Amino acid sequence: MELVRKTVSPDSEAVYEQAFAVRYDFPVYFTEHLFARDNPVFRQVMQRKEAGKRHRLVVFVDSNVSSSWPTLSHDIVTYAEAHGDAMELVGKPEIVPGGEHVKNDPALVTSLQKRLVELNIDRHSYVVGIGGGAFLDLVGFVAATTHRGIRHIRVPTTVLAQNDSGVGVKNGVNAFGMKNLLGSFAPPFAVLNDAAFIRTLHARDKIAGIAEAVKVSLIRDGKFFNWLEANAGALHECEQEAMSHMIRRCAELHMHQIAHGGDPFESGSARPLDYGHWSAHKLEALTAHEIRHGEAVAIGLALDTRYSVQIGMLPAGSEERVYKLLKKLGFYLWHPAMETRDEQGRLLLLRGIEEFREHLGGELTITLLRDLGRGEEVHQMDTNEILHAMTWLRRKETGQ
Ligand SMILES: NC(=O)c1ccc[n+]([C@@H]2O[C@H](COP(=O)([O-])OP(=O)(O)OC[C@H]3O[C@@H](n4cnc5c(N)ncnc54)[C@H](O)[C@@H]3O)[C@@H](O)[C@H]2O)c1
Ligand SMILES: [Zn+2]
Repeated sequence: MELVRKTVSPDSEAVYEQAFAVRYDFPVYFTEHLFARDNPVFRQVMQRKEAGKRHRLVVFVDSNVSSSWPTLSHDIVTYAEAHGDAMELVGKPEIVPGGEHVKNDPALVTSLQKRLVELNIDRHSYVVGIGGGAFLDLVGFVAATTHRGIRHIRVPTTVLAQNDSGVGVKNGVNAFGMKNLLGSFAPPFAVLNDAAFIRTLHARDKIAGIAEAVKVSLIRDGKFFNWLEANAGALHECEQEAMSHMIRRCAELHMHQIAHGGDPFESGSARPLDYGHWSAHKLEALTAHEIRHGEAVAIGLALDTRYSVQIGMLPAGSEERVYKLLKKLGFYLWHPAMETRDEQGRLLLLRGIEEFREHLGGELTITLLRDLGRGEEVHQMDTNEILHAMTWLRRKETGQ
């Protein structure tokens, strides 16, 4: 790489234009029973960069995963011993609280950072996180900020984390009443999706994660949308074959967007994967995170699809198909908090649009639908049309 010296007047001043590129690559494995002794995946991942070395690792486990899988810690210890030539487990796996509330607790961030220092985890060691999307957002943030970035391996254990958040490049925690305000772009070292974990997830969380598949199908892949419609019954029952296909296709589409969408670290104003999310993020905050991310996204999808029809972008009738699919999957598509008003009588949900813009800065950019399978960006939203879309949805769900 060459430094180009540009002379500006007067003669004593100069600008050196600095430029370099960093290549990122990480594998996303789909496997089952990751810590069964004879499963080579975890060992391969440890040795991906420096074969022949004995790698140090610390493992953090989401407490709800740990209680659903009581032998997990023991299995990890046994696996590490069996592959002791390739890895050294530093201490026993550490159980850390899981769920959205862990993203609201700054003390937890500090205590995990401190723990990494106590365990002498350096930048060539690994921090392995096993848990849901919220837990992985927290652990990813801790790994990215300690020593300015420790290698991080994600083992997502929810539908949403396996099909969306876990295969992405972002981490973060909530702060000052805003979701994901503090965080970074930090691609993981590897992602290991183990289908077995999904079995112990609550039905509510299994269904919630399917919302992200509906989302990505609507903006990118009409055929996948048709497949979701045809398999909605099996998905509602969380049948394994249908769930596996849904998770893989959804993960592929997210990975493709990140690698080939031209803006993996979101430096522009667009948020192409965040269809239906301006209202979803706000609704999560308005319900104090009582509603799941995926449940809020499902409501956001119904609203923005109806809105796309109302403003003439999307053929009429499409909103009914999306609504029916979401209902068949098992979503309830209304929440009274959507009508929370401030003292001046303004709907707080609408603040979500401005917060959505502020998150990336620049011009407001919202994805709407041109077709079922084709998103299109717009730069403004009409308040009256949003209110109409809300009325439409409220009537459908509550009859009023
Ligand atoms: N970083 C990103 O790019 C990105 C993208 C989308 C969403 N997200 C974030 O992901 C989070 C939502 O993730 P989520 O839907 O996985 O929810 P979650 O992490 O809150 O998990 C749901 C619940 O299931 C528990 N759990 C996890 N795995 C389990 C298992 N196998 N068996 C039993 N219980 C289990 C968790 O402890 C939690 O209580 C939100 O905070 C959202 O903002 C991040
Ligand atoms: Zn989402």
